[in-house]
This record gives sequence, C-alpha cells and structure tokens, in this order.
Amino acid sequence: MRVLAISGSLRGNSHNRMLLEAAARELPSGVEVELFQGLADVPHYDEDADVEPAHPAVRRLRGALARADAVLIATPEYNASLPGALKNALDWASRPFPDNCLRAKPVAVVGASTSLFGAVWAQAELRKVLGVIGARVIERELSVPRAHEAFDAGGALRDPEQQALLAEVVATVVTEAHAPVHQAA
Ligand SMILES: Cc1cc2nc3c(=O)[nH]c(=O)nc-3n(C[C@H](O)[C@H](O)[C@H](O)COP(=O)(O)O)c2cc1C
Repeated sequence: MRVLAISGSLRGNSHNRMLLEAAARELPSGVEVELFQGLADVPHYDEDADVEPAHPAVRRLRGALARADAVLIATPEYNASLPGALKNALDWASRPFPDNCLRAKPVAVVGASTSLFGAVWAQAELRKVLGVIGARVIERELSVPRAHEAFDAGGALRDPEQQALLAEVVATVVTEAHAPVHQAA
C-alpha cells in the first residue's frame, strides 16, 4: 500500500512538510510513503494546454496520485484560503473529470499555520475542492496552530493530543484505502 503526501507549502522549512513527516512516522510498517516534490514545477492551469501528452510535471503529479492508494495533504493558510500552487495542482489533477486521478481516492487533510487557528479556513476550502473533484475526503481533522512552536527538535508534535490526533488521521485514511467504495445504484 502506498500513501502520497503533499505539502501545500513550497518553502524549505515548511511546518506543513514537518507535519507530513510526523504523519509518515505514524504509518504502519509495510505502508510506503512518497513525499511529492513536484508542486513547484506544475505550470499554471490552462485549458488550452490540457492536452495529451500532458506537460511532464503534470504527468508526474497525475501519475503519483494515480499510483497512490491514499493521499495525505497538509496545507498552510494563505489569506484565509489554500495556497495557489496547491489549488492549481488540484485543478490539473481534476481533469479529465469523469475518471480523474483523485476520483474515489481516500484523502486526509491536515494543516498548520503560525496563527491561532491552524489553517482551519484553508482546510475547509481544500475539503470543498477535493469533494467537488470526487475524492473521498475523510472526516478526521487536525489543525496545528502556532506552528512555529508546535514541533520538538525531533520533529514530533509537542502536544500529545495533537500527535494522537495525527495518528488517528493516518490510521483512518489507511483503513479507508482498504474499504470498498460504495457507489449509488
Ligand atoms: C501570503 C501569506 C498569507 C498568509 N495568510 C494566513 C492566513 O490567512 N491565516 C493564517 O493562519 N496564516 C496565514 N499565513 C501564515 C502561514 O500560515 C504561515 O506562514 C505558515 O507557517 C506557512 O506554512 P509553512 O510553514 O508550511 O510554509 C500567511 C502567510 C503568507 C506567506
């Protein structure tokens, strides 16, 4: 089983990437995790350019999503919403729409920000976008406020309740990846 982890932040010292790394340590043994590195290379979405063969960065994105059994996204909040680079990548991932690479895919959303709210608005917007695309967004949530103070030197969340919630999010998305998809008759 394979989990694709995507950070909505392109920043080197991203707290959201740290959150994904902390999440990866909670995965059961035998579960492979790939931290997607190609977000910055994805061009701006242009419907005229959305043709086959796709741009190499778009192919890498769609391929990584298609190969994953589950996806974990950690998003910062930019001006009360999700970062443009992440939204842009999801727009590419959403096409071709009927059988896009996120359709029915279990996706967990978490987020960290330096404010007191932990990217809750960004996460809500991200959940809405993923739902429209057709992903199976899991209900378990984790918001990490004051992200600059939230991690210890080993990269774990200092707050044991937050670390336990992160473990629950990870366990839920892994379980969902094994669950049968219920389709309307
Ligand atoms: C352009 C910009 C807009 C931001 N807007 C918000 C915001 O609306 N709400 C919030 O909680 N944090 C906001 N922040 C703070 C980010 O959440 C914070 O920098 C966070 O650490 C970024 O995530 P990262 O560490 O993974 O890069 C903003 C930061 C930037 C650069």
